[in-house]
Amino acid sequence: MERVEKWWRNAVGYQINLKSFFDSNNDGKGDLKGVIDKIPYIKNLGVDFVWLSPFYSSPDYDNGYDVSDFLSVGSDFGSMDDFNNLVEMLHENNIRIIIDLVLNHTSSQHEWFKESKKGEESKYYDYYFWENPKNGGGPPNNWESFFGGSVWTFDEKLEKYYFHSFSKYQPDLNWNNEAVRHEIRNIIDWWVEKGVDGFRIDAATHLKKEDWEYDNSENKWGAFTNVPGLNNYLDELKIAYGKHNLYIVGEAGGINVNEAKYWMEEKEYFNSIFDLDHIYKIGIPGFEKGDISRLKSSLVEWQEKLNDSMSHGIYLENHDTPRSISIFGDETPQCAKALATLLIGLSGTCFVYQGEEIGMTNYNFTKNSELLTEDSKNKYSSLLSRNIPEPVALKIAGRWARDHSRTTMQWDNSINGGFSKTHCLPLLTNSNYQSINVTSQITDKSSILNYYRFLIQLRHEEEILHEGKFVNLDKYSQDIFFFSRETEEGAILFLINLRNFEVSYTPFKEFFLSKYEVISPDTNKVDFTNRRITIDPYEIIILKTNFKND
Ligand code: GLC
Repeated sequence: MERVEKWWRNAVGYQINLKSFFDSNNDGKGDLKGVIDKIPYIKNLGVDFVWLSPFYSSPDYDNGYDVSDFLSVGSDFGSMDDFNNLVEMLHENNIRIIIDLVLNHTSSQHEWFKESKKGEESKYYDYYFWENPKNGGGPPNNWESFFGGSVWTFDEKLEKYYFHSFSKYQPDLNWNNEAVRHEIRNIIDWWVEKGVDGFRIDAATHLKKEDWEYDNSENKWGAFTNVPGLNNYLDELKIAYGKHNLYIVGEAGGINVNEAKYWMEEKEYFNSIFDLDHIYKIGIPGFEKGDISRLKSSLVEWQEKLNDSMSHGIYLENHDTPRSISIFGDETPQCAKALATLLIGLSGTCFVYQGEEIGMTNYNFTKNSELLTEDSKNKYSSLLSRNIPEPVALKIAGRWARDHSRTTMQWDNSINGGFSKTHCLPLLTNSNYQSINVTSQITDKSSILNYYRFLIQLRHEEEILHEGKFVNLDKYSQDIFFFSRETEEGAILFLINLRNFEVSYTPFKEFFLSKYEVISPDTNKVDFTNRRITIDPYEIIILKTNFKND
């Protein structure tokens, strides 16, 4: 591929959750050849790169984020030749590829862990954290893991506990051990050699742990989130990425925007960061909705603070979130377009998650066997153990589950939504695939899919969207997003109603609309008479001017 410095600046990525994307051999699971088959679709969408979720060997307790061999391709996903072909064919089509690196933990089936379990004489013993029982057999401390339950699991044979921030199938690697860091550097080199264009660093803020005595009563996750000393590891990682012009995006739960700015602009650990701050739920358990005012305040804060480097990693959905139009909206195509405008209009590197571009919605769980992720299963059982009735437990565990984004991609209206021809699918397909699918949207000019294509093209073609700084034009409304992207030459304004009701609104300053050209396809009227604007439910107005907006 052509060498373009900082190719990711303002690029659009497409996240592929391999397992649920496209099954080329009809065994019920998505695979690498399935992605190859869909390259024309990805190209047509117009994105610059794909982010591929884990495809390594894995017992698959956590969607492949429990890796049992970092230098392999899991047999369900295909072969190393398939991977090489995928990289080559994406590159031929001018699409770059970044892959997930899960460096905080391995699978409990990884050879290192199996060896480690043999005891102190093993070279691998110190690759993980082992501790003796305390207080007559109990775990070393009371810390809770992200997926529920203790961070410690007892190994009967070794008579010791091992540490895991996530599930018991994902023992944490001991980054204090230089041998572990050496292995990590080898893994990075191996995949760089294969021609990948970057990495998404999974769980990047959790690599360092506090001493086991740390009191977590003030901050439940503080014992293994952004712990002092983490920077030393990130310094080492930065050196390992080397000078390959790689795009590195870190998943950085638990850090604030000032820390993120420091990490990206001063330390240059990452080119972008995924924060988890803007996807925030409110409401009673089982009926939660996304908090639109928090979405706005958080996005605005990150955009403003990262304006110099334009390094915000923007997303509304990924494999860990529910579907955005279900939690922030009313699941209508117009709502999907409003959210799309926000996503693609902001500055930074933005990510569209598979299915988001056709308006895929949350799944309606009717039985507990449909909960397939570890954390939602744990949540469900823990509710039952507290005597919550089954239907209520299902409602609560299912409402905000990450299972929603892992249903199969809806390609057409054939069996399993065209994802696979198998009759025994181990994954879920949303029953609305008959009406929401790629095939029906491709030819429909007014579809969500074609609106995404329009926005992505706009982002590529408009210099202002390439270089333009983010300016928030509305500081008060809880319903409206009103912002512009501005350069010395001009501005593009985005006015978006994120509510399913009409909003009457007065911008805090005057706009001279005669100077503006309307570029949103469905805008018939722009009436700023008396500065008071009435905006329809989920209405989108995009305006362009050659004059700086002041
Ligand atoms: C990250 C991944 C998530 C996974 C976790 C543990 O947060 O996004 O899917 O479960 O790491 O690897």
